[in-house]
Amino acid sequence: MRIYKVGGAVRDRLLGIAVTDIDRVVVGATTEEMLAKGFRPVGADFPVFLHPKTGEEYALARTERKSGRGYGGFTFHASPDVTLEEDLIRRDLTINAMAEDDEQNLTDPYHGQRDLEARILRHVSPAFAEDPLRVLRVARFAARYAELGFTVATETLKLMRQLSESGELQALTAERSWKEISRALMENQPQVFIEVLRACGALKVLMPEVDALFGVPQPAIHHPEIDTGAHTLSVLQQAAHHKQPLTVRWACLLHDLGKGLTPEEQWPRHIAHESKGLKLIKAVNERFKAPRDCQELALLVGEYHTHGHRALELKASTLLELLQSFDVFRRPQRFEEFLAACEMDARGRKGLEERSYPQADYLRGAATAARSVAVQPLLEQGFKGPELGEAIKRERLKALKAYKEASS
Ligand code: CTP
Repeated sequence: MRIYKVGGAVRDRLLGIAVTDIDRVVVGATTEEMLAKGFRPVGADFPVFLHPKTGEEYALARTERKSGRGYGGFTFHASPDVTLEEDLIRRDLTINAMAEDDEQNLTDPYHGQRDLEARILRHVSPAFAEDPLRVLRVARFAARYAELGFTVATETLKLMRQLSESGELQALTAERSWKEISRALMENQPQVFIEVLRACGALKVLMPEVDALFGVPQPAIHHPEIDTGAHTLSVLQQAAHHKQPLTVRWACLLHDLGKGLTPEEQWPRHIAHESKGLKLIKAVNERFKAPRDCQELALLVGEYHTHGHRALELKASTLLELLQSFDVFRRPQRFEEFLAACEMDARGRKGLEERSYPQADYLRGAATAARSVAVQPLLEQGFKGPELGEAIKRERLKALKAYKEASS
């Protein structure tokens, strides 16, 4: 049996990037031989094993045939006579289809090294189309390696477009799509992920609500970039630049969906886009079964981002409603994430990337003022049940009025 490192480990070593995860392919072996050497099988009918000591993945060289729609529609053929070249040709990109042995001798039948040097993401063969998830993978790699100058090959983009138009993307499970989306959003240039999906028509299929923002104008006075899609991409870019967590990045991507619903005759104004967008945000959240914290923050940011921007003008009662909507007394971290998303929204505008966002500190101060209301004295005065709740609210309102006065 011969063992080779493959995929990302080879690619990233050649790029001079730290390799975290090593996948290996085993040529000339049977399942029985692997088990005899102590390897642990990953699944019942999948020819992948874990090394008994290192836990790293070893896969038998295999060919794949598509037997139906979606990811379930695969049959694998793994046998000792499958060659390394046959295994590599079914992979997604040429830069992912290189192998090397322990002496770092490279096997590169599909010219991955040439494409690495030329900074091109190119599919290996028509077998690319056998897994529609690869449309998302290529967009994710484009986001990851954008800073190194990588772009998607024209013929690969064409194939991605065909796949997007064929209806195959709908067959992807929410879990597989979310895994790609969430990883892509955590890259340094997540906006490139959305741009590539848009360029191949996949965005229209996966997130038509985001796709619809392109071509929708906003008032130049607040939005020198004008286009709502361009703004959304800039907000996402700012979120990555400021190393925001996934929750914030997801909320940034979805915060303005309501603007896609504005009737053209109302452009460039978007009256009540915050509340109108909520059903769209909910739909996208559910389509990908986004984790709860991502779903919640996206909805809250969608509804309240304009409150964030107008913080200094808000009445004490509106401030209190805002703080209560966030359950800020029990969930301070989520409020911080809201403030971060608002700040990214304010900075994701052409020429305004470096502006300060005093609203965030102001709202933090308001939260502290409201939180400073002590419950004990109210209990001592005999308040209980709903009356206690009302009394706390009154005291918080008083505290917020005082805070507003002190800040003006
Ligand atoms: N692969 C593929 N098609 C997929 C998934 C994986 O062709 N849908 C192949 C590629 O050759 C890839 C390898 O399997 O390089 C390993 O996949 P994975 O671990 O998901 O990705 P990596 O390329 O290692 O990249 P990452 O750094 O993102 O883990």
